[in-house]
This record gives sequence, C-alpha cells and structure tokens, in this order.
Amino acid sequence: LANGLGVTPPMGWNSWNHFSCNINEKVIKETADALVSTGLSKLGYNYVNIDDCWAELARDQKGNLVPKKSTFPSGIKALADYVHSKGLKLGIYSDAGYLTCSKTMPGSLGHEEQDAKTFAEWGIDYLKYDNCNTDGSRPTVRYPVMTRALMKSGRPIFHSLCEWGDMHPALWGSPLGNSWRTTSDINDSWLSMLANADMNEFYAEHARPGGWNDPDMLEVGNGGMTKDEYIVHFSIWAISKAPLLLGCDIRNMTKETMEIVANKEVIAINQDSHGVQAKKARMEGDIQIWAGPLSGYRVALLLLNRGPTRLSITAFWDDIEIPPNSIVEARDLWEHKTLKQKFVGNLTATVDSHACKLYVLKPVA
Ligand code: DGJ
Repeated sequence: LANGLGVTPPMGWNSWNHFSCNINEKVIKETADALVSTGLSKLGYNYVNIDDCWAELARDQKGNLVPKKSTFPSGIKALADYVHSKGLKLGIYSDAGYLTCSKTMPGSLGHEEQDAKTFAEWGIDYLKYDNCNTDGSRPTVRYPVMTRALMKSGRPIFHSLCEWGDMHPALWGSPLGNSWRTTSDINDSWLSMLANADMNEFYAEHARPGGWNDPDMLEVGNGGMTKDEYIVHFSIWAISKAPLLLGCDIRNMTKETMEIVANKEVIAINQDSHGVQAKKARMEGDIQIWAGPLSGYRVALLLLNRGPTRLSITAFWDDIEIPPNSIVEARDLWEHKTLKQKFVGNLTATVDSHACKLYVLKPVA
C-alpha cells in the first residue's frame, strides 16, 4: 500500500500469542517500558500492538468504539500518548465483520470511516484487521473499504490484513495493505511454525517494500520449542522479510530469548534495503536450503535440518544465485563469526537436528 509505511518489515510486539484476551493497559504500558529498558526498541522493535479484546461489546450512542472500562479505564488516547512518549508506536486491532473473533467486541464492518477516524484521533499507528463474523461477502469487497477509510483518516496507519491466507491475499493485498497474512494462526510448536513458514514461502514473489507476506507473529520465548527450534523460527521469519512482531511476555524474557530476538545481524537481513523474500533453493528429505539476495551483491543462506538426526548440508552456488567460481566470504550469524576459510562453488556445514545455520555470503572475487 502506497502510504509510505512498511518500507521494511514492521518490528515490534503484539499481545495475542502470549496474553490472548487477558490484556489491560498495565500490561501494554509495562511492555512499552520493557521494550525500551531491554534495548529492543533501539534494535527496531517499535510497534506496541494491542490485539483482540480491548473494547466494550457495545458501541456508544454515536456508534463509536468504547475502550473496555474494566481493563483500559484511561482510554486508548492516553495509552497512545504514553507509548509515543517512549518513542514507540501504538497498534490496535479490529475486524472486517460485525464482531471480532473473540466475539467480545464489535468489528468495523459498516463503521469503517468512523472507526478509522477514531483510531487516527487516538494516535494509532498500526491497524491489524481481522476477518471473523463477516456478512459472507468476499474479503476483496470488505478490505478496500477500511483501506480507503484509513487513507482518509488524516494519519498514516500501517494496515495489516489478517485474512489468514484462505483467499490468497498475497495476490490482491498489495494495493490494500502493508502486510497480509498468508497462513492460519501459528501455535507455539515446531510443526506449526514450519507449516506457516512453508505456506508463506509459496507467495515469496509477492513481497516487496510497502507490502509483506505475514506468516503470523513470533512465538520465540513462549516455551513450546527448543532454543535451536526458536533460532530456526526467528531465522526463517527474518530471511522471509516477515513482520518481526514478538509474541512473548517482554517483561519476563530469559537471556536465551533475548539472545535470539536481539541478534542484530539477523535483524539486519530482515530490514535489508533490498526487500526480497528468501525462497527454498533446494530440498532433499529433511534438508532444506533457503536463500535470498541482499543489498551489496550479498546472499542470505539458511541451511535447515528438519529431521531427527544431525546432517551434513551442502549449498551450491548454482542453486543460490551466486555466479559460478565466485570466491565467497561467509559470516555465520548465530556464531557471530566470519569464517576463515573462503568458499568456491559451494559451502558445507554440519547441522544438528531441528536446527539451522544462517550465513551472509559475500563474493570477494
Ligand atoms: C485471529 C487472528 O489470526 C489472530 O492473530 C488473533 O488476532 C485472533 N484472531 C484474535 O481473536
């Protein structure tokens, strides 16, 4: 969407994966505080996004959305002011139907302009727009109404289409949103994470600055995967130019979680100015090689072992769009080491079960 936003994939946090409907203004404020105190905001994590369940079930007499009195007593405007005072941005959630998925609050269908105006007045910077409880019409009918409403609202608002991939929003999302879901909801497991990664990869050609494929939010730090599996999760999201929206409790992150999500070099791949989503370059049984071009003639290379035993994996230049005979320098982004050896024609590494190696390859001759 040509609103000047999402030039690189959005980064930040969203309440849903960890808190589900158990949210309140205290959690949101403390999360904003924690994004700053942990240093994550400096790394680019600047959206603080409220998901479902923030509003009263009934609109007011004028038809306006009303923040839930028991959980957001100070209102959303005050929250936006607070979040902005920390140098962060506030995101909110609505639905292109009559009720949101939780059915605890109204959707925006039929109230698009009014709600977009409300969001703009409150100082909202990001809207996640869900697809539950609709009138049965196509999303391609309902989503453009909110897009135009946001564009008329007088405030640049990142528009995240949350249609879950059923109607292939990657094929029609680009004039309507800054990102579009390509998958159903992620859960905190290896198989769910990989299923979403696979589905999202299918649409790689459609991602570009201003509009990104969204395989759903991160589960890193929520406890359902091993450290290596979370490293795979974060690595694939990064090279896929996916939104990096943390989904754990930022106020209580372990050192291990922090090490993963604060890896500057991996974040830099995600935020690379080239804006091209990595793709699978080769698959053989449990072995997958993913690669994508980066700025400066560099290539991001992921060697992924999806199987139960340790494997040796070789990537050939032919498969990953590096000119034959190029001499290549390799930086291992999880070891934080530039390898002493230079590589010609291919690179081989041993990769543990349910783990990956992530490199930036740079032709040096
Ligand atoms: C479905 C979405 O896909 C989720 O990310 C979350 O927003 C829930 N709805 C909220 O009800």
